[in-house]
Amino acid sequence: MIKNVLGIETSCDETSVAVISDGELKSNLISSQDFHNKYGGVVPELSSRAHLQIINPLVKSAFKEAGLESKNIDLICATAGPGLIGALLVGLTYAKGLALSLNKPFVPVNHIEGHIFSGFLMKDKPEFPYLCLVVSGGHTLLLIVKNDLEIIKLGSTIDDAAGEAFDKVAKMLGLGYPGGKAIQEYGENGDENSIVFPIAQLKNDYDYSFSGLKTAVLRFLQKEYNQNIESIPANELNIIAASFQKAVVDALIQNVKKAISNFDFKSISLVGGVAANQKLRNEFKKIAEINKLKLVIPDIQFCGDNAAMIAERGFRIYQNGKRFELNANAFPSLPQDVFQEYSHR
Ligand code: KG4
Ligand code: ZN
Repeated sequence: MIKNVLGIETSCDETSVAVISDGELKSNLISSQDFHNKYGGVVPELSSRAHLQIINPLVKSAFKEAGLESKNIDLICATAGPGLIGALLVGLTYAKGLALSLNKPFVPVNHIEGHIFSGFLMKDKPEFPYLCLVVSGGHTLLLIVKNDLEIIKLGSTIDDAAGEAFDKVAKMLGLGYPGGKAIQEYGENGDENSIVFPIAQLKNDYDYSFSGLKTAVLRFLQKEYNQNIESIPANELNIIAASFQKAVVDALIQNVKKAISNFDFKSISLVGGVAANQKLRNEFKKIAEINKLKLVIPDIQFCGDNAAMIAERGFRIYQNGKRFELNANAFPSLPQDVFQEYSHR
C-alpha cells in the first residue's frame, strides 16, 4: 500500500519537493531562481546548475518537515516534461536514482497534467467531468477532464501562452520578469476600460491567440510614447496594465462560457501560474455562481510550479494501475497524443 509519496519538480526555474502522506500534504518546498530576473528570462544552463545545487538539500528539508526519512517513502514521482531539458534531467535523474537505491516504484509525471489535477490538492476537490482552463507561462489549454485518464482538448493557444503574453507586455512596460504579478498590481490602480485592446476571434471556438494583443500594446506604446517607457506617467502605466489584463481575461473567459453552454460539467477549474491572477479568479467565481457549477481554483501556492501537484498526479496515475520502468526520459514539449482531440465540425 502507498502511504508516503515524494514529488519532485524541476521543469523551469523552480526547484520544488513535496511529501504527501495518506492524502495529506506534509511538505511543499519551493526554491525560486530569482537571479534570472536580470537576464529578462530564464537562462537554461544557469537553471540546470541551480537545480543541481539545491535538489539534495531541498529533499532533505522536505523529509525533515514531513517527519520522515527516505526509507519511509513508498512512491517517487518527478516531472519528465514539458520544460527545459537540462532542468528536467536534474529532477528526473535524481528521482530515478533515489527509486533505484530505495527499490521503490517511480512515476514520471507530465507537468501539464500536474497543473490539471492541482485542484485535487484542495479540501473541496473537482468532480468529473470538469472543465479545466490551464494558463501557464508556456501553455494555454481548455480541456474536458472526464476522469484520471481521459482528457479531451477543446482548444489551445495558436501562438503565445497567456502567461507569456503577460511576461512580454510586462517587459515592454519595464516591469521586470516574470511580469504577470506586476501587471496585476499596476492594473489595480488603473481603469481597465480606458484602452480597448483587441481580442482575437478564431475559427475554432475554443482556441486562443495572444500575439495580436501583444502587438497592439507595442503599437500603442510606439504611437503614444515613441516606445520610450521612461516617459510613461505612472497613472498611464496603471491604465495600460489594467486594459491589457482585461483583454487577456475577457479572451480566456469568452471560450470558457462557450464550453459551459455546449457541454455538461460538474465542476470548473482554473489552474497554472496565471490562475494566481485575481481578476481571472473573480471572473471564474462569477461564472460558477451563474451556472451553479462547483468551482475549484487551487490556493496560490499550488498555481505556480510546485511539487505537490506532481506528487498528487503521480499518485493518481499509480493508483490507476500504471507502472513504469526506470528508463523514462525527459521531454521538452507537450506530446501530441496526451490529450484526445475534440472533433470540431
Ligand atoms: O505555471 P507557471 O508557474 O510556470 C509554467 O509552467 O509556465 O506559470 C508562470 C506564469 C508566468 O508567465 C507569470 O507571469 C504568470 O504565470 N503569473 C501571473 C500571475 N502570477 C504569475 N500572470 C498574471 N497574474 C498573476 N498574478
Ligand atoms: Zn507550470
